[in-house]
Amino acid sequence: MKTVFLLVWLGTLEALRWGSLFPTKEQHHLVSCVTEIVCQHFIPNQPVVVSSTGNEDDLLNFLLKNIQLSHWPLQVSYPGSSLAENPGQYYDKIGNYVILIRNKNDIEEQAGHLIHGARWNNHARLLTVVTLHEDNPQEQALSVMQELWENMKVLNMVVLVQSEGEFHLYTWFPYQSNTQCLDITDTVLLNKWISQNGGEFSKHETLFPYKIPNNFKGCLIKLVVPYHGTFEVEYFYEFLNGLNFTVKIDEKEWEINPNIEEAITKAIEDVLFGMAEIAFGGIPLLKEASDVADPSLSYYQTQYMWYVPCAKPLPRLEAISHIFSVTVWVTLIAFMFLTAAIMWCLAHMTLESHTYKTASSVFYNIWAVVMGVSVTRMPRTLHLRVVIFPWICYCFAISTIFQIFFTSYLVDPGLEKQITSLQEVLDSKIEFGFRPEMTIYYEQSPYEIHKELLKHHTYCRQTHLCINKVIETGSFATIVESWAADKHLQSVNDSDRELVCRMNEIDSFPIRIVSYFSKSSFLLDTFNKRLASITESGLNIRADKERKIRSTFNKLDINDTGGGYFVFTITHLLIAFYTLLIGYILSSNVLICEILYVKFARKPNNLGTPVFGE
Ligand SMILES: *[C@@H]1O[C@H](CO)[C@@H](O)[C@H](O)[C@H]1NC(C)=O
Repeated sequence: MKTVFLLVWLGTLEALRWGSLFPTKEQHHLVSCVTEIVCQHFIPNQPVVVSSTGNEDDLLNFLLKNIQLSHWPLQVSYPGSSLAENPGQYYDKIGNYVILIRNKNDIEEQAGHLIHGARWNNHARLLTVVTLHEDNPQEQALSVMQELWENMKVLNMVVLVQSEGEFHLYTWFPYQSNTQCLDITDTVLLNKWISQNGGEFSKHETLFPYKIPNNFKGCLIKLVVPYHGTFEVEYFYEFLNGLNFTVKIDEKEWEINPNIEEAITKAIEDVLFGMAEIAFGGIPLLKEASDVADPSLSYYQTQYMWYVPCAKPLPRLEAISHIFSVTVWVTLIAFMFLTAAIMWCLAHMTLESHTYKTASSVFYNIWAVVMGVSVTRMPRTLHLRVVIFPWICYCFAISTIFQIFFTSYLVDPGLEKQITSLQEVLDSKIEFGFRPEMTIYYEQSPYEIHKELLKHHTYCRQTHLCINKVIETGSFATIVESWAADKHLQSVNDSDRELVCRMNEIDSFPIRIVSYFSKSSFLLDTFNKRLASITESGLNIRADKERKIRSTFNKLDINDTGGGYFVFTITHLLIAFYTLLIGYILSSNVLICEILYVKFARKPNNLGTPVFGE
């Protein structure tokens, strides 16, 4: 097997470098103590890195031999050597470190060497062995610890110093009071290694206790919120006050109408450069951001959703003209002429009355059947009756259907076609646009239609401006977060709200809202634990509901009739009256024409009155 680590096989080295040297009694004890810590207190199955300045080779070799015998994966780091970088193979991160130093002046160089690797892990366990004696072991431990914290920011650290044949193990605890948060001003003696019985610890206690408390004793925490009006702020306040943090929110650069992408980038940068510990407030889970800051668990989910203008009511005339298709009208008229022609022919072949022998009067009767009024005279012969009876049935059916649709369209002419897909947005040629950052998503999308979208889109800078454009123009489509859109729509008046419709569920995609912590923050675990219990118990859903109720409370519509009855007024019948009027005008004209014709054109002819119908 190709080993990942630079394993030091002391078996081969022994003869070369070790054979003649024998460890002193003190070294013996030190090595047993360190080996005991490695075996009993380090994270099992995680590699151990042993780092040295190169000045304690004897000790290092002896130590490595001992640890090696306990079968831990080992790696050795010298200034000048490079740690094997094999991310992903066997282990992602290193779990344990042992650092050998003479005094605190050695730390900077070694730290620089260790932390510049991809596998550096500041959540690892760190044992620092100080080899030189000093008079006051506690002060020595304190100064070493301060130097270590400054350079490495490892919380789980234990410093081993020597004192009169014993080894003292020191550590520190953060957030002890509001003046002592992340500054090391005090050390705690955890344990002692005494040389009795060949060496043992004086107490049986864990050397790496969990150090993040549930009460942060009023320590300051700096937060950054990208823009004004995020509703999480008050919940975060409560949440952090519950942990006894003193909260300071950075609100220096809130603009009235910020560019959301820029605002979020700025907030993440603040976290990256240490100006704030947490960035939150409607920030989605983004890959670019999680490369530079640690995202928390997601506590809210919303969607990017397309909003389109709602379909408008159809004009009544247009609705009525669509009752029958053109072919039906054409067939009806064709059959009218056909029936008239057949009846005229049959009448001539039989002993039918005069009514059905003149073309105009046959046609008049056929028309009367269509209109549902009586004919001037019933046909007498069987032949004509056979023809006219189906015609009456046919006209009865057609006019019943027509009247049903006609009346219902008078009441409610229906809506124009609603846009329900991206293809329809493109086909309808209406304008559409979104915030600039949305292009990133559509550029990466494999769908052809999204590429098509990018060719024709425009930009609108902010959610509420995008939605307003839909309301104002009535021919604009946009994609925005449903959360922000709903919030904005609650603030506009009712008639405007009805102009904006969600397009569909398919073309939307979810976004998870998270907060970002500075990389490798020790607070993240504590927060995630609490966020998990908040989400699992549904507190965030309740908060969301409360917010919605609060914002609609003052605007509940008391006069909401809620689908009762429909008042059929004269305006709904306008079309019918107009048609009637046109009919009257037409028939009066015909009457006048006939009177004039009778008076002048036929005067010289004879005395007989003109015959209508018969
Ligand atoms: C919060 O921290 C302050 C300052 O250290 C402390 O006096 C107070 O008792 C703490 N509050 C709680 C509830 O623990």
